Amino acid sequence: MPLVAVVGAQWGDEGKGKIVDLLAEKASLVARFSGGPNAGHTVCNPYGEFRLHLVPSGIFYPHTDCLIGNGVVVSPAVLLDELKQLQEKGVNTSRLFISSRAHLVMPYHVLLDKMEEETKGSKALGTTRSGVGPAYMDKAARTGVRAGDLLDREELRHRIHSALEQKNAILTKVYGVPPLSLEEVYDQYCRYGERLAPFICETGPLIGQALGRGGLVLLEGAQGALLDIDFGTYPYVTSSSPVVGGAFVGLGLSPATTKIDFALGVAKAYTTRVGAGPMTTELLDETGELIRKLGREYGATTGRPRRCGWFDAVATRFSVQINGFHGIAVTRLDVLDTFASIKICRAYKLDGHVIDQFPSSAAALRQCQPVYEELSGWQCPTSDLRRFEDLPPAAKSYVRSLEESVSCPAAIISVGPRREQTIMVRPIP
Ligand code: IMP
Repeated sequence: MPLVAVVGAQWGDEGKGKIVDLLAEKASLVARFSGGPNAGHTVCNPYGEFRLHLVPSGIFYPHTDCLIGNGVVVSPAVLLDELKQLQEKGVNTSRLFISSRAHLVMPYHVLLDKMEEETKGSKALGTTRSGVGPAYMDKAARTGVRAGDLLDREELRHRIHSALEQKNAILTKVYGVPPLSLEEVYDQYCRYGERLAPFICETGPLIGQALGRGGLVLLEGAQGALLDIDFGTYPYVTSSSPVVGGAFVGLGLSPATTKIDFALGVAKAYTTRVGAGPMTTELLDETGELIRKLGREYGATTGRPRRCGWFDAVATRFSVQINGFHGIAVTRLDVLDTFASIKICRAYKLDGHVIDQFPSSAAALRQCQPVYEELSGWQCPTSDLRRFEDLPPAAKSYVRSLEESVSCPAAIISVGPRREQTIMVRPIP
């Protein structure tokens, strides 16, 4: 039965939470495969408005299991706080499963993220400072602490002890701040372990079992393809693989036996980015300010104002290529409702040449100038429309131009934050 991946096609914040919450109605399982508390998936449904950092966006349906895969880094403090907020709003959180192989964000990760950024000054990456980068560093360095370690206190103490020997040296000698106490960190994580133990298990077989039962399974990406550690605008990227391929490793799926039936890329009808790094279509004028104001473009995790600009088809087309999207969910079309004209960046100008490929180097991308196509705006509200044919002609033309410019059909158009503010253009299995 269908396996559908929902992945960010730009620099994150595309509205994946809404799309997953919507599609999860028919899902028996939703699985997160990358990122960690740096993500902020906004979901607005009859339970209220939520910003989910770690809990998969399928948690609101009583029939949907939610899995945090091995590719995610889990902050127990953030997760427990999120579970509390959900429970307070009457959401049943008992169907959550956390991979015993998922790495944990530790207090020293958060401190190091903050201090590394502060030390870099104007060269900072603009991370979310949630400790995600340092947690993935420890995973690769084989000095990490995993969720499964919370179930074995002797191992937990041993892992924290070895990590702290090294981290305290860095904290005291490089950054001149007091060391962390082994006893305090250990006690705190023992308490987290007591509360999270019911959710931690070997999650590997769960997806196969759900597919075997015939249910829809959704793979929920975090961030976006242009922040991917390999394919994003390195070094201005996150530390994991938010692309469709990352789902295989981040959940323990075999590409030999598992077929993704539909890869859905989520892309805003314009472009935003938070943090540093090149963004060719960024508008540093009143138009950018207007998009930010109309779209309420402020980070869900950090509250930072997002950088705003016109739709970058060169970047999104690259994302379509590396993810193999079958369809795009175009979100926030309604934010453009009032503009008299709207632009799509179809190519870049670099060193006097027009190019249509997304450069692999951030330095080259920084030199690129956008080559725009200008389209008429529709200047009427779209938030109450539910069928593609009811969209104003200029809005239809805009969507058609987006599809053509990224070589991928629109499957969904979102015209507002609520579930029902959605136009289904093509069926998703
Ligand atoms: P980190 O993932 O916190 O290390 O941040 C690295 C870069 O990714 C920064 O530019 C962040 O602003 C960006 N980033 C991380 N998570 C998200 C997200 O969920 N949405 C948008 N940008 C993100």
